Formats: sequence, C-alpha cells, structure tokens
Amino acid sequence: MNSVEPLDHRSESDVTRELLADARIGLTDSPKWLPPKWFYDARGSELFERITELPEYYQTRAEYEILERYALDIVERTGVDTLVELGSGSSYKTRLLLDAMRKHGAPKRFVPSDVSRSALRGALSALSADYPELELHGIVGDFATTLAVLPTGGERMIALLGGTIGNMPVEQRGGFLGEVRSSLVRGEWFLLGTDLVKDPSRLCRAYDDSAGVTAEFNRNVLHVLNRELGADFPVEEFEHRARYEQGRERIVLALRARRAMRVWLRVPELAVELARGEEIETEMSAKFRRGGVEAELEAAGFELAGWYTDEAGDFAVSLARAR
Ligand code: SAH
Ligand code: TRP
Repeated sequence: MNSVEPLDHRSESDVTRELLADARIGLTDSPKWLPPKWFYDARGSELFERITELPEYYQTRAEYEILERYALDIVERTGVDTLVELGSGSSYKTRLLLDAMRKHGAPKRFVPSDVSRSALRGALSALSADYPELELHGIVGDFATTLAVLPTGGERMIALLGGTIGNMPVEQRGGFLGEVRSSLVRGEWFLLGTDLVKDPSRLCRAYDDSAGVTAEFNRNVLHVLNRELGADFPVEEFEHRARYEQGRERIVLALRARRAMRVWLRVPELAVELARGEEIETEMSAKFRRGGVEAELEAAGFELAGWYTDEAGDFAVSLARAR
C-alpha cells in the first residue's frame, strides 16, 4: 500500500521562523526582494497550475512535448527505476517518465518533493490511484532539506523540471548543482528542464498574461506574508511587473507600490517603508543556452549525456550523468 501522506521534517514554527528571516533580510535590502518559494501556499500552487495552462505560457507544453517524445529514450539509456523529483508540484509531466519506466521494466519508486504540502498531497493521491505498483515516498521540504534525506538504493535519477533552476539567483546555481551532484554517486543521473533564450516580447507575455493569472500569483506572496507574519500589505495597491533583462538573459518579476506606504510586520515588529513606484523583486527566471547549461553541469561534476528540445526550440531537457 502506498503512502499518500508526505514526510515533513519541519515544524510550523521552523517554517514561520524561516519566512521571518527571509522577509527581514529581503525587505530591508535595496532593492527589496523576497525569495520565490513563499509564493507556494495552497492558493499559490493552484494559481501556478492555472499559469501552466495559459495560452501565453508555452513552457509546460513545450516540456510535455519533449517528454512525450523522448521519455522512453531517456529511460532506456539510463535504466533508472527510482525517480526523485525536486519542486514536483502536480508531477503531471513526470507521469510521462513513469509511463516510460513502466514500458521499459517497471518503476520501483517515486520520490516527489516540494515546499507546497497541498500540491504534494494532491499529486500523491492521484499517483497512488494511477500507479498502484509504485512505491511512493513524498517529502515536504525545500531542495537542500530534501537532498539531505534522499532514499538510497536502486538506479536513481533526480529530476528538476519546469525551468525551476532558472528561479534561483545565478550565484546560488553552482552551489545547488554541487549539492545535487554530491547526493548522487558516480554514474547516477540528473534530468534538468531549462527555458531557452528567445524573443523578449514572447518572454514578457509569458509572465504577464492577459487574464491576469500571473499577476495574482505574484501578489499571492503578500497574502502569505499578511497571514503568516501578521503583516498589513495592501495587496491590491501593488502592480505586477515583468521585465526582461537582455544583458543577463532573465525575466524579473516585481511588485510595484502604487503609492508611498509603511507596512507593519507584527512578528517581529518591523516597519517597511515603500516609496511610490518602489518595487519588491519577487522572482527571477533565467533563460538558458546549450553552452551555458553544459558548462554549469560540467562545473558541478556532471557530463551532459543528452540534450532534448521541442520542435520550436523553446525549451530544453538535459540528461546529465554524475562523473
Ligand atoms: N515541476 C512542476 C512545478 C514547477 S513550479 C512543473 O514543472 O510544472 C516550481 C515548484 O517548485 C512549485 O511546486 C514550488 O512549490 C516548488 N518550489 C519552489 N521553491 C522551492 C524550494 N526552494 N524547494 C522545494 N520546492 C520549491
Ligand atoms: N520556473 C518556471 C518559470 O520560471 C515557473 C514559474 C515559477 C513561474 N514562478 C513563476 C511562471 C511565476 C510564471 C510566474 O517560468
């Protein structure tokens, strides 16, 4: 019998303490910023699923197309029977890998992991119904926590899909990839989804859709701070901004204050002043090129063993082997 209840190594007070520390650092910095993992409470995860279906947001469809076409190839080449997914969300696309594993032999174990308990529970209950033979082992936690408690044994592959690596600040990527590498043994596998550099106007539309779903998603982080830290952000007084920085090849999402304001965070007592038009940066989404991905993987101790793209060349999935 499968467990649909994920393991959570954190307590509620750990999470609140971490959010507090992040809010204090980010909101007293210049420019102000907040780490993106706090977008994903239950509502944030729901809004993200709606983003994946937007006509402007091509990434999920492109990555799905890639996995539809190449999942079997990936599974045959690697012979994996244990799949670990970081930032797994709904694990919807990941089913293509599990299906390929079924065709090839049989998937033994799936270890989805996410900071969003609600997304993980939804994924686990759907998966346990559709893959009754699969051993499911869900972990609630951030990347570092999860990598520290990974189950061992089997032919393992770690997957990080959805372009999520692009949401990490570039200075943290090397360290993160190094941690992924150290949690694997030589010969094991890493599967990485990256959005590719393309026409800036398409990129901007993907992060500023006409239905306003991404704007709601972006503002959701303020609802999280209001609820969890007793803050009083006037959420509707923040405008959603998405701009492409050509030089750094990344999208920056921000929330811009429509008026000057002072916001209180009750725990701890912290007053945050915002000038009219001042922005809080809430997320980066880096865009990649093959050479860059290959170099970053190499530097972390991986060898690029496969580079798969969709027909339009919008998105890439890299298969890497631990050296
Ligand atoms: N892999 C899914 C979801 C991508 S959205 C897809 O491709 O559609 C990013 C996911 O990563 C969300 O589910 C979010 O809750 C999770 N996430 C964000 N920051 C995280 C962190 N630091 N550690 C673990 N999960 C994180
Ligand atoms: N990692 C994906 C991206 O950068 C998904 C994502 C995360 C996203 N946060 C987002 C998409 C905010 C839109 C808005 O595109």
